[in-house]
Amino acid sequence: MNWTRKDLLGLEELSREEIELVLATAESFKEVSTREIKKVPALRGKTVVNLFYEPSTRTRVSFEVAAKRLSADVITILTETSSVRKGETLIDTGRNIEALKVDIIVVRNNYSGAAAMLARHVKASVVNAGDGWHEHPTQALLDIFTLKEKLGKITGLNVSIVGDIAHSRVARSNIWGLAKLGAKVTVCAPAILIPPGIEKMGVKVTHDIDAALREADAVNVLRMQFERDEESVFPQQLEYFKKFGITEERLERAKKNIIVMHPGPINRGIEMSSGVADGANSVILEQVTNGIAVRMAVLFLVAQANEQIKNENTD
Ligand code: CP
Repeated sequence: MNWTRKDLLGLEELSREEIELVLATAESFKEVSTREIKKVPALRGKTVVNLFYEPSTRTRVSFEVAAKRLSADVITILTETSSVRKGETLIDTGRNIEALKVDIIVVRNNYSGAAAMLARHVKASVVNAGDGWHEHPTQALLDIFTLKEKLGKITGLNVSIVGDIAHSRVARSNIWGLAKLGAKVTVCAPAILIPPGIEKMGVKVTHDIDAALREADAVNVLRMQFERDEESVFPQQLEYFKKFGITEERLERAKKNIIVMHPGPINRGIEMSSGVADGANSVILEQVTNGIAVRMAVLFLVAQANEQIKNENTD
């Protein structure tokens, strides 16, 4: 199939075939990072701007590395040192970036729907690098890519997502993507961190961590998003670790080869023990490595589609 979208805004709107196309494209790009000269000319002459309104280590650096491996020119704008501090709106910033003849804007913003709004106002491709509590599509794609690489398939897998489901764009994107590819998803958290009606997304809900781990082929452990938790709805971090933290003892009662994932950054001793984070079941750093290939695939596909759209409009 052909990728026809100028933007990547979320996994909710993607078909199973589109997700599979991104994964297959990422697989073909993965080898580039093993070369002595880690570069292909796929996006030579294109310009990518990383526009980040929130802190980021993995996503920002990964998009930057991915764009450079495709030979694109890359500029990163951190909003605390930009004219955003002087009150410029997202749309004005986006239009000004576009006026600089930029081809792709990768945006992280604290408001759900910000990436979609920007995409409606610019002709450049927009890639959502995380918008509020809504979606973080490339994180879910790299999680799914890693799972497939480790377990050979997604269909029929039992995947448990544990932690701050309520505030998590990573959880939402993973649920959409995994469900479309035929995995069975369970979410596990204290009731206060499970959004009402989440079952409508096709997931099972449990508040029992041992039950969530018992049948799981993989567990994706989410970060507790203290910065979004202004009301301090779940302040007792040690209590959380006691009831929901992933520990070596809990893993001993799970499937022997259970895959342990985390999108990062980890709060060690709250979401999981250091022994688990650095242990034999953990693929956390492999997720980070796979993020490069997945983001190369996304940048390549949206750039190609946008080129096609522009050609059709000038014909
Ligand atoms: N997983 C993730 O989004 O990490 P960063 O916030 O460091 O980008």
